[in-house]
Amino acid sequence: MKTLIKNIKRLVGTQDPRSPLRGSELAMLPALDDAFLLIEDGVISDFGTMQQFEADRSYEPPQVINATGRFVLPAWVDSHTHLVFAGSREEEMVDKIRGFSYAEIAARGGGILNSASRLHATSEDQLFISAWERIREIASMGTGAVEIKSGYGLTVEDELKILRVIKKLKQRSSLPIRSTFLGAHTYPATFKDDHEGYICQIIEDMLPVIAADGLADYIDVFCEQGFFSPEETERICRAGMYHGLKPRIHANQLNLSGGVQVGVKLGAISVDHLETMDDDAIGTLAHSDTIGTLLPNAAFFLRMPFQPARQLIDAGCAVALASDYNPGSAPSGNMNLVVSMACIQMKMLPEEAVNAATVNGAFALEWGSQLGSIAKGKKANLIITKPIPSLAWLPYSFGRTAIDTVLIQGEPIISGK
Ligand code: NIG
Ligand code: FE
Repeated sequence: MKTLIKNIKRLVGTQDPRSPLRGSELAMLPALDDAFLLIEDGVISDFGTMQQFEADRSYEPPQVINATGRFVLPAWVDSHTHLVFAGSREEEMVDKIRGFSYAEIAARGGGILNSASRLHATSEDQLFISAWERIREIASMGTGAVEIKSGYGLTVEDELKILRVIKKLKQRSSLPIRSTFLGAHTYPATFKDDHEGYICQIIEDMLPVIAADGLADYIDVFCEQGFFSPEETERICRAGMYHGLKPRIHANQLNLSGGVQVGVKLGAISVDHLETMDDDAIGTLAHSDTIGTLLPNAAFFLRMPFQPARQLIDAGCAVALASDYNPGSAPSGNMNLVVSMACIQMKMLPEEAVNAATVNGAFALEWGSQLGSIAKGKKANLIITKPIPSLAWLPYSFGRTAIDTVLIQGEPIISGK
């Protein structure tokens, strides 16, 4: 099956880097004007200028998309979500408006524990159906690959339940999905005063089954004051690594938790959140191969200072952008909004934000050679915009969708006008 996209006003992201873009590289986003792109069997098989197309080709395949006036770019790679969950938590938003903090709401049995008890009461089938809807929703907004974490189970039975749902989503969805075990999201009520007991349960009862059943690609820990210390984070991650799960860590969201340092020490694929950073944490990250994944929607929703993207990039870090889609701190999987937030609030250039939300997101999921940019042989997971004047118009026109069509492995999932 062949599809030709022709007369593309600008084909954005024509690159194939071998490693995540860092520092000043992030501002370089190669593009071709007046371009074509050919898709064969779900993969980008060729691209170039229309002039080259007209000189070299004597036929057009049966399926042709005319992209006059439109930009084509790689679909977003959302490398951090918690999109399998049961029920929404808008009442906590109202509690926050009334003045309670995130930590206070968690201490009152809200927060993650609230989602855990709802998940416990929800069937696996129902969880699958609601998560499937969310995947359709994010794909329609331009997301072409996603990572999903567990962490709303917090018992052996329920962590396995949520991971089985993610596995089923992987099997049934054309969207590439990575799965992360986040048993160490918080302590369940039954282990409130027995942290050691819960950590042992993660290491002895959860991890061996998860590994044996192939239920996760990565291990994650919420390294935060009042949750898991750097020492506990290291212990849990090392147990995961023993079972073949690479670490990615929730680090430095609410406090200088030491999460960045422990993540770098362990060779984590990424350290995520990074709202609260100092020079040591920034320097440590800059001198490592670990990607810093910034989640501006969570900072926005929790009214926290945004991640210091400029300092991170200027120090030479590799940064990615992701949504953190979850019911408590970021109830939106809209990566277009993430890119707008990154530009408007974090002073990332549009080119930097697009690179962070595409190619670096792909590297954060170890899919750098398959996704996230326009290169021959990569999956044809693409965004075709409406007619737009410039790349900067994407973040500028925040809250509005500039997307006309999303292709997942060459197949349109929304066709607008
Ligand atoms: O990434 N920080 C920890 N976990 C989630 C929030 C989870 C929740 O409140 O349900 C996050 O922001
Ligand atoms: Fe998160």
